[in-house]
Amino acid sequence: MIDLTGKRIALVGGAGFIGHNLALKLREHGADVHVIDSLQVNNLGAFSNSTDDPNKVLYLGLINERLRLLREAGVPLHVVEARDYHLLSSTLAQIEPETIVQLAAIAHANRANKDPFSTFDHSFRTLENALDIARSFHCHFVYFSSSMVYGNFDGEAVSEDRHCEPLGIYGALKFSGEKLVIAYNQVFDLPYTIVRPSALYGERCVSRRVGQAFIENALRGIPLTINGDGEEGLDFTYVGDLVQGLARVIGLPESHNEVFNLTFGGARSLNHMASIVQEHFPGLEVHHQPRDGLMPERGTLSVEKAKRLLGYAPAFPLEKGFVEYINWYKDMAERHPELFERTAKA
Ligand SMILES: NC(=O)c1ccc[n+]([C@@H]2O[C@H](COP(=O)([O-])OP(=O)(O)OC[C@H]3O[C@@H](n4cnc5c(N)ncnc54)[C@H](O)[C@@H]3O)[C@@H](O)[C@H]2O)c1
Repeated sequence: MIDLTGKRIALVGGAGFIGHNLALKLREHGADVHVIDSLQVNNLGAFSNSTDDPNKVLYLGLINERLRLLREAGVPLHVVEARDYHLLSSTLAQIEPETIVQLAAIAHANRANKDPFSTFDHSFRTLENALDIARSFHCHFVYFSSSMVYGNFDGEAVSEDRHCEPLGIYGALKFSGEKLVIAYNQVFDLPYTIVRPSALYGERCVSRRVGQAFIENALRGIPLTINGDGEEGLDFTYVGDLVQGLARVIGLPESHNEVFNLTFGGARSLNHMASIVQEHFPGLEVHHQPRDGLMPERGTLSVEKAKRLLGYAPAFPLEKGFVEYINWYKDMAERHPELFERTAKA
C-alpha cells in the first residue's frame, strides 16, 4: 500500500462523486486530505433548489451520506467558491498543500453542450485559479481530464499518445485544460499529472449516467432505455479502481509530467450492462431510442502505461464492480424506501 502519511492534499471539487470517494481512500493511506467545494454544482445547492427533479430526495440523501462519511473520516470540508481567486487562494494558503487535485467542473457532456458559459466558468475558470495559486506552493498538480478528449475512438485500445479530436464543449474544454496545465509546467516548472478516466460508476453518484439510471429504473420497475442499438462499448470503470490509481499517482514521482488513462481497460457493451441488471431484476424490459450524435463513439482505453509506470492494478471488471453497485443500491432501497419515492414525474 502506498504510504501517504501526513501528506497534505487539497481536492478542489472534492465533495463530488469522485472527490469524496478519493478523499476517503487517501485518508485510508494516512494523508492529511482537505476537501474544497462550493456544494453548488451537481451537489446540495443544485438539488435543494430543483423543483422538477424526480430524484431530488434520493440525491440529497446520497450527498448527505457523502458529507457524513467525510466528517467521520476526519476530512475537513472548506465550503469555497473556486471561481473566486482570492477566496481559493486564502483557503489553499491555510492548507499549504503538497498536492492539489483539480476536480471541479460541470462533469457532464450533455449539460456542457446545453450551457457552455457556466461550463467554462466552473471547469476552466476554476482550473486557471487553482493552477495560478499552485505556483506559489510549487506543488504537484493533478488534473482530471477525460476520455472525451480523444473524440471518436478508431482502434482497439486508445493509448495516451493518440491524437485528440474532441467533439463538443465538454471534450474541447477538457483538452484546453490539459494544454493549460502543460503550459504552467513549461513556463513555471509546475509538476503535473493529467488523468483521463471514463464512464465511472459507483456508490453515492448523483450524475445519473447510464448504469445508475438502469439501476434506479429497475428498483422502481421502470423499463431501461438504451440510446442506439446498445452494441457500442464503453470502458466502464468502478470508482474503487480509479481512486486506487489516484493514490499511486499522488504517491509516486513516476507520475510527474505524464498523462494516464485510468479506466478498467476493457470495454463492455450497453446491452451487456443491461443484461447484468436484468439478471438481478427478472422481467425488466429494455427499450431503445436514437443515439445523441454529439457523443463520440468510444471503447477501450489502454491502461498499460499506468500499469507499467505506477503498478496500477484495476480489479473490478463490470461483471464484478457493477454487481457490487447493484447490491449496494438494493440494500439502500431496503433500508431507506422513503428515498426512492419520486418527487415529480420523470
Ligand atoms: N464521473 C465520470 O465518469 C468522469 C469521467 C471523466 C472525467 N471526469 C471528471 O472528473 C471530475 C470529477 O467528476 P465527478 O463525477 O466527481 O463530478 P461531480 O459533479 O460529482 O463533482 C464536481 C464537484 O465540483 C464542485 N464544483 C463545481 N464547480 C465548482 C466551483 N466553481 N467551486 C467549487 N466547487 C465546484 C461541485 O460542487 C461538485 O461537488 C470532473 O472534472 C469530471 O469532468 C468524470
